Amino acid sequence: MKLPIPSLKPSAAWVTDLTDKYRFNPGVQTTVQIIFLQVGLTLLSVLVFGWAIKYAQEDTIGYITQHVQDLVNGTATTSGTLPQSIAAVRNRTYTYVFAGMVALNILFGYLIARFALRPGRQTIRFQKRFIGNVAHEIRTPLAIIKTSTEVALFDPHLSKEIRDTMEGTIVELDRISETINNLLSFDSLLRPKTMAFEPVDLAHIAQTVCDRHQEFAASRGIKLACELTEGSFVLGNATALDQVITNLTKNAINYTPSNKNGQATVTVGRAQDGRVALSVIDTGIGIEQKDLYHIFEPFYRADTSRARGIGTGSSGLGLAIVNEIIRLHHGTITLRSAVGHGTTIKVSFPPAKDSPQLPLLAPSGSPLEATLDFSA
Ligand SMILES: Nc1ncnc2c1ncn2[C@@H]1O[C@H](COP(=O)(O)OP(=O)(O)OP(=O)(O)O)[C@@H](O)[C@H]1O
Ligand SMILES: [Mg+2]
Repeated sequence: MKLPIPSLKPSAAWVTDLTDKYRFNPGVQTTVQIIFLQVGLTLLSVLVFGWAIKYAQEDTIGYITQHVQDLVNGTATTSGTLPQSIAAVRNRTYTYVFAGMVALNILFGYLIARFALRPGRQTIRFQKRFIGNVAHEIRTPLAIIKTSTEVALFDPHLSKEIRDTMEGTIVELDRISETINNLLSFDSLLRPKTMAFEPVDLAHIAQTVCDRHQEFAASRGIKLACELTEGSFVLGNATALDQVITNLTKNAINYTPSNKNGQATVTVGRAQDGRVALSVIDTGIGIEQKDLYHIFEPFYRADTSRARGIGTGSSGLGLAIVNEIIRLHHGTITLRSAVGHGTTIKVSFPPAKDSPQLPLLAPSGSPLEATLDFSA
């Protein structure tokens, strides 16, 4: 008689499902690895405890036997009383157990950070690479659409409505391109090996940024003032530093209400401590304290600017890029802000070697509220 053989299919599917989950889900991988490490820690802890208890028992029994033998023989050579000896054994056991537990926890903490959290770190790396790839892929078609629209605008027979729509399209395309460029530079900043560093005059870079933004500031009814001391040399990458000043200046203009006598000031010179200092000061909407600690995170936008619809179309990447570039230049960034009064962002860099001695900038006292310091 042929016995029915139970089908292995359901259990095989179950196992495949589970292994797939483990292989492709970093959360599951991390959880499983942490559980295994914890089980290992528990087993080792039991071993340490077992050894310590066995050691304490054997030692205590040894002391008692010795003590009893001394009493019987009348040769009381054992130093101290029996309870004292047992207390000494107990204390030594506690010390060994404590030291063993601390060492085991340090070891397992390290193992968890090194191995169990690796899937999470890998996911972040994949995400960054994905963002970079997508940005790269979108850039070319965007440029083509923009060029085609610009060419189409040359047609003199276009009606006013169509012309307005197409011009609006170009403005939106420019915004998307800017976001894409931000994403790309954020991605390349995470792999900075190709960035060339040389002595560059920060004042010179700031001047070009100021010139580029005068029209934008004027269009919003904001005065853009630039006080630059030439010869403020730092060892850096001109393109990246241009991006720092551009992002800060654009923020200063964007987040200052238009046509209300607002002012943005860009200053470059030598600070009291001898470092090269850049400051961008505005009289804008300011940043709430709760947002201060987050605005340097990628894609973070403060509620105030969202609620007021300021800087719509922006990606929240500007300050993340600024922070990353400053870190690569061993600079520091200090931010002071008061809601409704304005924001002061100060950046300082080590001066390039052999740079000329410049007059010191006056120390600035500001009535603003919150300070945040990012050191390289
Ligand atoms: N000078 C400023 N005054 C007030 N708020 C600011 C200022 N600079 C930055 N912020 C706030 O910090 C947030 C993050 O700034 P960040 O420059 O990183 O992004 P963004 O300006 O929103 O977008 P992007 O710069 O990528 O176009 C802004 O959304 C804004 O809320
Ligand atoms: Mg910005």
